[in-house]
Amino acid sequence: MRATIAVLPGDGVGPEVVAEAVKVLEATAKSFGHTLDLASGQIGGGAIDATGSPLPAETLRVCRNADAVLFGAVGGPRWSDPRGRVRPEDGLLGLRRELGVFANLRPVRAVSDLADVSALRADRISDVDVLIVRELTGGIYFGARQEATAARREAYDTMRYSDEEVRRVAHVGFRLARERRQRVTSVDKANVLASSRLWRQVVNDVAREYPGVECESMLVDAAAMHLLRRPADFDVLLTENLFGDILADEASMLVGSIGMLPSASLGDGRRGLYEPIHGSAPDLAGRGVANPLGAVLSAAMLVRHSLGWRVEADAIEAAASRVVADGFRTADIATAGSTTVGTAEMGTRIAELVAGASREEGPCVVTQ
Ligand code: IPM
Ligand code: MG
Repeated sequence: MRATIAVLPGDGVGPEVVAEAVKVLEATAKSFGHTLDLASGQIGGGAIDATGSPLPAETLRVCRNADAVLFGAVGGPRWSDPRGRVRPEDGLLGLRRELGVFANLRPVRAVSDLADVSALRADRISDVDVLIVRELTGGIYFGARQEATAARREAYDTMRYSDEEVRRVAHVGFRLARERRQRVTSVDKANVLASSRLWRQVVNDVAREYPGVECESMLVDAAAMHLLRRPADFDVLLTENLFGDILADEASMLVGSIGMLPSASLGDGRRGLYEPIHGSAPDLAGRGVANPLGAVLSAAMLVRHSLGWRVEADAIEAAASRVVADGFRTADIATAGSTTVGTAEMGTRIAELVAGASREEGPCVVTQ
């Protein structure tokens, strides 16, 4: 098969981790007999410096012409002046909105080899397998806002949701729960927020269409607590945009490092946006030490969801697990006795395993 992928490395460690994800994608294509056309684009702070815009029209065009978008990270101290006219993050938010990718999937699975790295005791995390389904193009991220000015020291943001915005992401959550452990926990703050009361009503409505799926609504503060107290009880965690942003970072500590977690942002069609959930980590940038697993596992989600290459996605995930199991770790997930490797070596090791993957299927020669 032939596929076009838009590659947007962005700022900070973005280019370093995306380079490894691309290395793994190229190895995958070669190993399984596919052709990949890669088209790169600027986004974030680098794009502001080069063009004045965090999301240049050309980048959007490249993304619209692609089957999927692989994204690194945006932002950094260089562009974080609160009085700045444009922010790097506006590039990512604009891209999510323009591509209509309203459902952000963030799988959080405990890795037994990394039990020592988790923030929790091994017995609490052994069965953790949570899929966060975060609404991505609505809520307080996109509601009306007013910046404070020198004259008027007051600012606001608005958390707004329509019935339809909640309904479509709820369907994604319930559909995915049906393929998993049949359980949705919907997160809201319905005891305080009007938008959450609508959220809860609509989720209940949608739940009626999935009689086999158990559904509970949980207040976000309680959810933050239960995620640490009994994380293995969660299956699909369905949440609005800001709550999902916060809970995903919290959940990454179950695994042990935010560098590990991938994400897929999906809309109505097959095209998706794939990104590690970590940020640009300016303190690590340029040092070759960032963990590329979040980006590499995002590439696995990309080939599975947008290209329909399931065996290939499994092969990438298996190779990543194998490298970690063999004791090769970036500094953030290093444990006693493991071998600390840099970003590029981690990527190369995964790519090498993937390169051999299609040949490991069986003794029969595959004629493409
Ligand atoms: C994330 C990030 C982004 C978000 C930022 C960079 C805008 O934190 O993807 O989780 O808040 O959605
Ligand atoms: Mg975040």
